[in-house]
Amino acid sequence: MAVHADGCTITAADGRSWLDGAGGAIACSIGHGRAELVAAVSDQVATLDYVHATQFESASLHDLAERLGPLVPVDDVRIFPVSGGSEANESAFKLARSYHVARGDLDRHVVIARSGAYHGNSRGALDASDRAALRAGYEPWLGHTSRVPAANRYRDARSAADHANELDRRIVELGPERVAAFVAEPVAGATLAAALPPDGYWPAMAEVCRRHGVLLIADEVMTGFGRTGRWFAVDHWGVRPDIVTAGKGASSGYWPLGLMMARGDIADTVTEHGTFVHGFTWSHHPIGARVAAAVVDVIERDGLVGRAEQLGRRAQAALTDDLGDHAHVGDVRGLGLLRAVEFVADRTTTAPFDRSERVAERITAAAFERGLTVYPCTSAVDGRVGDAILLGPPLSVTDEELDLMIERLVGAVVDVLAE
Ligand SMILES: Cc1ncc(COP(=O)(O)O)c(C=O)c1O
Repeated sequence: MAVHADGCTITAADGRSWLDGAGGAIACSIGHGRAELVAAVSDQVATLDYVHATQFESASLHDLAERLGPLVPVDDVRIFPVSGGSEANESAFKLARSYHVARGDLDRHVVIARSGAYHGNSRGALDASDRAALRAGYEPWLGHTSRVPAANRYRDARSAADHANELDRRIVELGPERVAAFVAEPVAGATLAAALPPDGYWPAMAEVCRRHGVLLIADEVMTGFGRTGRWFAVDHWGVRPDIVTAGKGASSGYWPLGLMMARGDIADTVTEHGTFVHGFTWSHHPIGARVAAAVVDVIERDGLVGRAEQLGRRAQAALTDDLGDHAHVGDVRGLGLLRAVEFVADRTTTAPFDRSERVAERITAAAFERGLTVYPCTSAVDGRVGDAILLGPPLSVTDEELDLMIERLVGAVVDVLAE
């Protein structure tokens, strides 16, 4: 029973405490219990708690657009706030479809996603996702997404050109006039545990999409808002998607928030033709917008994007020193403060453990016993098998706290996996 959280520490009713190495679900970006956020939320509740977007605009929405807009790698960006990452992706898919319909491209509806993707748990987002355990009970509703290979340097020797050719071939097979969008996480998150694409991957994929009139949706729900050491992960490669989705770190958990952010001319086109029939009770919530603007302020004021990059290097070095030679550690990887250790039964073949061994779950439990939360990935090979642990603490973590997190994680690994 958690009763209190401050900075990177969560305290339970019985007095035990944990370092929040997982930032909840890699969501807490600025740390817990920030006085600025308490003030922002309470002022917003007192001033204008809620109005519906079909009836009113609000100052907090305009303020968020002004602060966040220049940081988003989307041309003339327009922001559509919702309540979480799944909703942000649903909104992106519907916007892509609406845009094509508005332009008379009535057949464009297919979404192409990647193997091992995670885009959320609502029906459309789950269909774009490729995690067998999450899909299993709902398969009769799914199956409308086309899939291209994951980009995973550790397990796949494909070059950027190979990936781009596969996407190109898939679009041509489907018929470009039927394809609405390609969606992908710039750095894989919940399923493939911070797997990185090969060099040149993102510019090459973006070029294929442009050539075929397919909208590029970058799902930055986990990677956005500084997590990887850039404001958005696509900034590492200078790519400007048509739509970027965010969530998690955008509100740091102070409010349930997702953001769908699209190119201005896409928004103008659907507005002009009235094709984007979409919205929720809590879309454009004044408190959510106020929280996100306050989070942007803290990230900028405290230089947390730069800290994420710097601390990411520190984490990579420490994890490699401590675990790099372990007989069951296949890979240590990531960008910024999205770091992962992937565990294998055999380092030479990279064969994973049998899922029945529940390696990721056991390491997570051992870390919890040692006072550390981490994020288990239980299908890190291909969305079906494979064990990894993600470390994604608040970007405000101190050097000392990060070192202690790594010490506890290493202890947990050694507890569970004898060499
Ligand atoms: C990349 C990505 N997209 C979408 C989602 C879904 O977000 P939410 O759980 O807020 O609906 C997640 C959640 O883990 C995610 O990592």
